[in-house]
Amino acid sequence: MKSIHIDNQNSTILIGESYLNTRKYLPEKKCFLICDENIYAHYKSFVDEFEHIIIGCGEGIKTWSSVEKIVEELLAGGADRNSYLLGMGGGLVCDVTGFVASVFMRGLQFGFISTSLLSQVDASVGGKNGINFGKLKNMVGVFNPPQFVICDTQLLKTLPEREVRSGFGEVIKHALIKDKDLFKFLKDNQNALLNLDSELMEDLIYRAVSIKTDVVNKDPFEKGERKKLNFGHTIGHAIENNSGLTHGEAVSVGMTLATKLSEEMCGLDIEESSEVIALLRKFRLPVDHEVPAETINEFLIKDKKKNRSSIDFILLNGIGEACIKAIPIEDLKNKVHQLCESKVK
Ligand SMILES: NC(=O)c1ccc[n+]([C@@H]2O[C@H](COP(=O)([O-])OP(=O)(O)OC[C@H]3O[C@@H](n4cnc5c(N)ncnc54)[C@H](O)[C@@H]3O)[C@@H](O)[C@H]2O)c1
Ligand SMILES: [Zn+2]
Repeated sequence: MKSIHIDNQNSTILIGESYLNTRKYLPEKKCFLICDENIYAHYKSFVDEFEHIIIGCGEGIKTWSSVEKIVEELLAGGADRNSYLLGMGGGLVCDVTGFVASVFMRGLQFGFISTSLLSQVDASVGGKNGINFGKLKNMVGVFNPPQFVICDTQLLKTLPEREVRSGFGEVIKHALIKDKDLFKFLKDNQNALLNLDSELMEDLIYRAVSIKTDVVNKDPFEKGERKKLNFGHTIGHAIENNSGLTHGEAVSVGMTLATKLSEEMCGLDIEESSEVIALLRKFRLPVDHEVPAETINEFLIKDKKKNRSSIDFILLNGIGEACIKAIPIEDLKNKVHQLCESKVK
């Protein structure tokens, strides 16, 4: 087991710890476990050991009505300011649990058992919690870190294969923005990683979390450096909202388009650009999409990362080196049109 402490958030990520040891990390408080229906189906006997609240599955549950349901159940279960919330699930359950914990009675302490690859390497690290507002993702939320996050690689064995690949999308993102060696590690170990080899997965999650932690430590409130974690997400979110793709799949398409744009705007080497796209394909992630440019552009205008007349867009100078460029919205809209017209080779 390896642990990483995020100093300025007083939050500890435990990689390779068994979820069965969770009680070691819980304070002597009344604890409510929150999970979704899938987690309950797979881990019923563990969940039943706690007072628990079960929510539905899918992005559609990241809403005010889920927050209301959880608050109602907490009140019915006798929760007070001294209670503790334990979110057990993927990014969705963690985002909703962290949000409820932040606002219920002005804030409860909370921790996560992170069960999807995407949440282990990304969603549960860094203290962002929130819910969607209509079609707008993560529009209502807070920065508030969990006390601990357990990332047990054994939990990934029940994760659907498509969700595993989706999680690799975020890992590839971490490598692309910060760590060329991690990119090579992914290239060299692709088959073993897709088969969830425990030792390699632990190593991979540790490296990915270290990258995110490093960025979050430098910039906890996303004023600068942390924006790089949004690589592939600006267009990715637009695609996610207008297609049947998962978050990681949509980010893969978003990264492909941002990589192509980097050739033109940052002089990214064409060979490196091809390597990026080849790696995404190796992890069986999509690099193309059918969403019309107009739909993407409409979404970009509403996107919360919009900064007056320009959008802070993340591009690559090279593999492992991201940069932030403020692109005027009108220019970006034209570029989206061009990118959508040219199919990825
Ligand atoms: N807070 C952040 O910093 C941050 C960062 C990235 C993504 N996110 C958010 O995370 C969400 C996506 O997270 P996700 O991909 O984990 O989605 P998810 O939580 O919906 O999980 C994906 C699916 O896998 C199932 N599942 C999860 N773990 C399982 C397991 N061990 N065994 C069997 N089934 C399991 C879930 O029930 C769900 O159906 C999005 O809402 C995104 O906005 C947040
Ligand atoms: Zn993401």
